[in-house]
Amino acid sequence: MRSHECGTVETSLIDQVVSVCGWAHRRRDHGGVIFIDLRDRTGLVQVVADPDEKEAFALADAVRGEFVLRITGRVRRRPEGTVNPELATGEVEIYARQVEILNRAEPLPFQLDEDDVNEAVRLKYRYVDLRRPSMQRNLRLRHDVIREFRTFLDDRAFTEVETPVLTRSTPEGARDYLVPSRTHPGQFFALPQSPQLFKQLLMVSGLERYYQIARCFRDEDLRADRQPEFTQLDIETSFMGEKEITDLTEGMMRAVFESVLGARLADPFPTLSYTEAVERYGTDRPDLRNPLQLTDVTGLMREVEFKVFSGPAKAEDGRVAALCVPEGGKLTRQQIDQYTEFVKQFGAKGLAYIKVNETGKGRDGLQSPIVKFLPDDVLDGILERTDAAPGDLIFFGADKAGIVNDSLSSLRDELGHAMGLITGDWAPLWIVDFPLFEFDVDAGRWISLHHPFTSPKEEDIEYLESEPGRVLSRAYDMVLNGTEIGGGSIRIHRRDLQQKVFAALDIDQQESREKFGFLLDALQYGAPPHGGIAFGLDRIVAMMAGADSIRDVIAFPKTQKASCLMTEAPGRVDDMQLRDLHIKLRRREAPA
Ligand code: AMO
Ligand code: AMP
Repeated sequence: MRSHECGTVETSLIDQVVSVCGWAHRRRDHGGVIFIDLRDRTGLVQVVADPDEKEAFALADAVRGEFVLRITGRVRRRPEGTVNPELATGEVEIYARQVEILNRAEPLPFQLDEDDVNEAVRLKYRYVDLRRPSMQRNLRLRHDVIREFRTFLDDRAFTEVETPVLTRSTPEGARDYLVPSRTHPGQFFALPQSPQLFKQLLMVSGLERYYQIARCFRDEDLRADRQPEFTQLDIETSFMGEKEITDLTEGMMRAVFESVLGARLADPFPTLSYTEAVERYGTDRPDLRNPLQLTDVTGLMREVEFKVFSGPAKAEDGRVAALCVPEGGKLTRQQIDQYTEFVKQFGAKGLAYIKVNETGKGRDGLQSPIVKFLPDDVLDGILERTDAAPGDLIFFGADKAGIVNDSLSSLRDELGHAMGLITGDWAPLWIVDFPLFEFDVDAGRWISLHHPFTSPKEEDIEYLESEPGRVLSRAYDMVLNGTEIGGGSIRIHRRDLQQKVFAALDIDQQESREKFGFLLDALQYGAPPHGGIAFGLDRIVAMMAGADSIRDVIAFPKTQKASCLMTEAPGRVDDMQLRDLHIKLRRREAPA
């Protein structure tokens, strides 16, 4: 249908007759002459329709925004003064000899160059939204990233294997999406939260190096960086330890960032232990572009009179931490009040602070409602530990450790951005030495921090039963600019150890047989030592694209309420279908 693509029509084609196809991006009527900016995948080209070409002109006159056109005409140089240097095709235009309307279009629900279009409208008319150059760029970037990952792994003898989507529960800590079985009344498939068990079984099968661009399904509370169905770059290997897997995959990230963005990531990535990360940043996914750090002052505060500090300092699960902000002295009272409100969303009861006017003058150099409650040696200790300089401001959090960590790590992010402290483009790192378990207070039992197939460290195995809280795992997370982009571990490959871990998780023999019998069986038929990792592809691409949400790099994403506004999924099904599936609804919502 076409001889050229819109974005490729340039000066070398002058005086040639070309045919182009695309959408009428803009149409302008300039006193008798009609200009149409025709858009296709490759860009825009200007078409001119002149009344001298009667038929073409009449058709051009009927064209409206987003009509689909085929245009044939001679390429000519634009008149002096009308050249558009912003456009690759800006020096030329097509003088239309023939205009064909291939299809008409109703006025769009929003304009393609409009910013701030309501996201619900964008999602309802996603096919229109995806016409925007920025969205097309994102989808192409996603494709490039996937291709580079594949190339890297293919070059290293990895095999891509597809694993089932209709399966049994694969626990990763979220709720399952279930699919009722017609052929087995009352029974359900679960969609995989990840291919975890299958990739381990592929190691038992002797694949040694597996990967998959895998769709995962998790019914969990959604946020900007979470979708109910999302894509992992999933990897598993045999006969490789932590170091080999992390070296391989950070090398892969460096290669992909270099080839897709021309960006250089650190070599090697820095590594922090979980404990150190939480102590210094209040989180296990710190943004290392931000220089601010927490200082633990719990030990200093145990004996002070100020109950706000001494209470948590003495409590077993309490923490008192300081966040010293260079030049924070310039923050106004009002700003400090706003930050106090900000930390309250994380459960903090307040946000004590000390302004450091001068150092070396003891309490006389300090300005704060709380210094009167703190003795000299404690004040000196604070200044020394935080290394505060004149002009700085020190914030304090005192509470249960979880609340202090959540509130001060979020405050750290907030201040880092507000005060322009973020430097550098990319700050990747590894977090290692995670606890194997965490205690779920609501459930009253230990749960896996990663998943139940993660290996404990050899030297901690003896504490599985007696002190599960002190057992560390052989897991590793990759963090980039404050986002967890990947996580993995060395797995348990011995049946007895797997059963011990199930026992520590309060999963008894019967339950473990029922749920994971096939895994336990497989572990007795020559399972090699193995381990792997999975990367959140949507998150990685979103960061590379500079997008605020992973929705912007997924062609047809779901809303925060896990629905698709375009297809209106999920939807009702008719009674016959339900009957076939042996399902009777308890209560039907009134029709909307
Ligand atoms: P994990 O649960 O950490 O590990 O998932 C791996 C990575 O997937 C991304 N991710 C998500 N992205 C978008 N929406 C979601 N709802 C979502 N949930 C997770 C994150 C995360 O780092 N089987 C293990 C991996 C392994 O042990 O090999 C697993 O799934 O970037
Ligand atoms: P109060 O004694 O409640 O007037 O608090 C004195 C100062 O301590 C105020 O600046 C409060 O914002 C702050 N504050 C109160 N509770 C906490 C807390 N749990 N952690 C940190 N600062 C707090």
